[in-house]
Amino acid sequence: MDDTGRVSSNGTPWWRGAVIYQIYPRSFADSNGDGIGDLRGIIGRLDHVVDLGVDALWLSPIYPSPLHDFGYDITDYTDVAPEFGSVADLDALVDACHARGLRLLLDLVPCHTSIDHPWFVEARSGPRSAKRDWYIWADPRPGGRPPTNWMSAFGGPAWTLDPASGQYYLHSFYPEQPDLNWRNPAVAEAMHAAMRFWLDRGVDGFRVDAIAHAIKDDRLRDNPVAGAGRSVFGVDPSGHERLWNVERPEVHDVIRGMRRVAAEYPDRVLIGEVYTPTELLAGFLGHDRDDEFPLAFNFELLHTPWRADALRLAIERSEALTPTTTNPTYALSNHDQVRHATRFGTDAVRLAALVLLTLRGTITLYAGEEIGQTDAPALTGPAHDRAGRDAQRTPMQWDATPRGGFTTGQPWLPLTDPQRRNVAEQGADPTSVLSLYRRLIALRRSIPALHHGEQRSRLDLPGELLGFIRSADGERLLTVGNLGATFASFTLGGPAAVVAATDPRREGTSVDGAVALAPNEGLLLRLPD
Ligand code: GLC
Ligand code: CA
Repeated sequence: MDDTGRVSSNGTPWWRGAVIYQIYPRSFADSNGDGIGDLRGIIGRLDHVVDLGVDALWLSPIYPSPLHDFGYDITDYTDVAPEFGSVADLDALVDACHARGLRLLLDLVPCHTSIDHPWFVEARSGPRSAKRDWYIWADPRPGGRPPTNWMSAFGGPAWTLDPASGQYYLHSFYPEQPDLNWRNPAVAEAMHAAMRFWLDRGVDGFRVDAIAHAIKDDRLRDNPVAGAGRSVFGVDPSGHERLWNVERPEVHDVIRGMRRVAAEYPDRVLIGEVYTPTELLAGFLGHDRDDEFPLAFNFELLHTPWRADALRLAIERSEALTPTTTNPTYALSNHDQVRHATRFGTDAVRLAALVLLTLRGTITLYAGEEIGQTDAPALTGPAHDRAGRDAQRTPMQWDATPRGGFTTGQPWLPLTDPQRRNVAEQGADPTSVLSLYRRLIALRRSIPALHHGEQRSRLDLPGELLGFIRSADGERLLTVGNLGATFASFTLGGPAAVVAATDPRREGTSVDGAVALAPNEGLLLRLPD
């Protein structure tokens, strides 16, 4: 171990085995009372992430945006939105993170800009505009119909008519998010320049948004009606297979170009948001050529029910299908999905943490999950996000006051339940969910078997028990948890120390022979030699 308590890297990339902490900047900490989280607020709360023990922060977009998609519609790739602060504040955050041994990742949104981005404003000024070809335009089909039958990811046609020119422009998401034309080398150059702008400032890499949408069929072919079998890229709401508008083969050149830019700098990482089945993820990781994303999110656990058989299958698929140049990735929550405390139930969050934080790979946490935060059950007032994701974006709960210590002003979204769950109270309580997260992350950092050891999940365990063994240098740790509704037991062949447990009273004890687990109970055991 080095002097920060981390397992020494031996030349392996820092992100292997790491824990990344996702911050939704609007909702983390407000430093100036306007009710909106900001960069100075994050700097003021770095103690919390340091105590939690994570390796890196990933910030959802901090760039200027008219907020049609809450920051995922950008008007300037090399500036900070005024409500979040300034580029100088970002520099200060980079320095503050690095001084505390944390890395900082930004969100790169390369596939579409805001409709208000000067590039699109220029492109829209007419078919002869110099930036026209930075976006994707096409003439209507007979009868004025859209050029293809492609649908936007948020529903409705993926084409919107520009009345001035009589042409349609393409948008894979909202109409306010026109798709960039990545077949145009000038687009690649501009995006690479934006990457270098932040990499030059010391940012440690990017989470790369919605990359499957970067390239569409150049012949603009209609998607076919979905057949009876399983369709690889999914079926859109109109019943068509998303064949020609996502995951086109040329997308791999786009990713390789980004990888080359990141590789101009030491130790930087790119994490792809691909939203593809695990079977296809390796394709975005460059297989064994290792020339595409060093890491890509695997979202399967976001859609897997809280059942031992389903989770085991998802984990085994990831183990089997992840190339050796990288490691699996897991997350249970993010800003786009119902939080897992709501999906699985709050009784399950301790066991979920025990499983997640002992898996092999790179783990991403979503701010708030470390206190067991749920989605807001009943949001009143006008919706902000048109796709209905406000409930998982409510502010971080720092203390038990009505505004949760998040702001002194009027929070942009109401707090969910700061009296019930908050950092201040849980931080002082060794039996809390937060304390369990801290212990698990500390163990992950200090025990090589947990940090980067091998994983074996084909164990002979009964029914609703989920288990896997991590091992390195002759040390073996068993994670085992009961996902069923009744007691379940398994048998050990010798005494094992309880290293961590969902029930803190069991930590430091040892077990042997028949071990019974209550519903949602889990243990991390050090197995005998
Ligand atoms: C990604 C983001 C999501 C956004 C979409 C369009 O999936 O995570 O929040 O709406 O891309 O940019
Ligand atoms: Ca603020």
